[in-house]
Amino acid sequence: MLEAITVDNFRCITAANLALDERATGIIGANASGKTSLLEAIYCLAHGRSFRGAVRADLVRRGAKSTRIVATLSDSQRTVVAGVEFDASGSSETRLNAQSAPAWQFAQAIPTQIIDPSVHRLLEEGSLRRRRLMDWGVFHVKPLFINEWRRYQRALAQRNAALKAGASAANLGAWTEALVTHSHAVHASRSQYIEQLIPSFRLVSADLLGEPAELFYRRGWNDGLQLLEAVNQSRGRELRQKTTVVGPHRADLDIRWGDASARQRVSRGQQKLLAAALILAQVELRSRTSASPVCLMLDDPAAELDVDNLGKLLKAVAGIPAQLILTSLEEVRFNGIQLGRTFHVEQGRFRQVI
Ligand SMILES: Nc1ncnc2c1ncn2[C@@H]1O[C@H](COP(=O)(O)OP(=O)(O)OP(=O)(O)O)[C@@H](O)[C@H]1O
Ligand SMILES: [Mg+2]
Repeated sequence: MLEAITVDNFRCITAANLALDERATGIIGANASGKTSLLEAIYCLAHGRSFRGAVRADLVRRGAKSTRIVATLSDSQRTVVAGVEFDASGSSETRLNAQSAPAWQFAQAIPTQIIDPSVHRLLEEGSLRRRRLMDWGVFHVKPLFINEWRRYQRALAQRNAALKAGASAANLGAWTEALVTHSHAVHASRSQYIEQLIPSFRLVSADLLGEPAELFYRRGWNDGLQLLEAVNQSRGRELRQKTTVVGPHRADLDIRWGDASARQRVSRGQQKLLAAALILAQVELRSRTSASPVCLMLDDPAAELDVDNLGKLLKAVAGIPAQLILTSLEEVRFNGIQLGRTFHVEQGRFRQVI
C-alpha cells in the first residue's frame, strides 16, 4: 500500500506530507485549494506524466526551481521508497530505494488509477487514452508485456524513421518484417487480457447503468487480414503520412451500450459511469491477480452525477479491494466507504482532521 506521500513545489503545493490510510483517505477543500494537484502528483510519480495532459513546466510551482514527489510503499515484508524530481525543462531524476530506476518500474511499484471529472474523455477522445488504459491493465496482469511492448515500439520507431527518410519498398522490407514479428506478442497479450476483462466489465457496467455494456478489442488493422497484408495495402497512405498507419499501435477499445456506441447518444453522466466501469473492472481484475492493492483515486466523484448514480458508483468502488483516496468540496459521507483518515486542504496546505 501507499503509506505516505511527500510533495514539494508541485502546482500550488509548497510542501505536503501525508500519511495515508490503508483503505480510504478523504481530502476536503474548496475550489482551487489543491485537491486535484495532490492526486496529480501521485499519478505523475506512478505514470511519469499528468492525467490532465499538462507539461512539466506547468507542474513545477511558480517561482520554484524544481518539484519533488516521494512515496513510501510497504507490505508485510518490505518498504519501498519511490521518488521523482524534475524541473521545468523536463529534466528528471527517478529513484527507487535510492537507486536510479526506469519509469516502468515505478508503474509496477505504484499501481495507480484515477476517476476524475474529465474521465468521460476516455470515451470521447481518440484511441490514445483507451490504449494507454488497456496497456496499464495488461502490464499489471502480464509481467512479460513490458518487454513485448518495448520490442514492438523499437521496431515501429525504426520503420517510421525509414519512412521519414524516404526508404524504398525494398529497403523497408526488413523493418516491416520486424514490425510484424513483434506485433504478435503485443496483440496476443492484449487480446487475452481483454477476454479476461470482459466479464468484469459487463458486471460493473450493469451495476452502474442497469444494463451491461459491451467491450470490443480492435487490434489495429483490418479483421481478416494478416498484418503484413494490411501494411502492404496501406502503402499509399503511409507514403503520404510518412508513418506506419496500421498495427498494434493503432489498437483501440470500442465500448457499446444499448444499440449505441458510447460516444453517441449517452448523456455526460452515463459516459462518466461507462468510463468508470472500464477503470473499475481493470482495477478489480488487477486486484484478483495480485496481492498488492491498486491505489484508486476519485477526484470529486459527485461531479456530473445525481445522488442515485453517485451512490451506485461509490457502492461499486467499495466492493473493490483497492486503497482509496477521495476528494470532495465539502464534508460528505461517501456512502459505504469508511474514511480512515481525512485531511482538510487550504491554499495547498494539508491538515489532518481525523
Ligand atoms: N505551477 C503552478 N504554480 C502555482 N500554482 C499553480 C500551478 N499550477 C496550478 N496552480 C494553482 O493551483 C491551484 C489548485 O488547483 P487544483 O486543481 O489542485 O484545485 P482543486 O482543489 O482541485 O480545485 P477544484 O475543486 O476547483 O477542482 C489553482 O488555483 C491553480 O491556479
Ligand atoms: Mg480539482
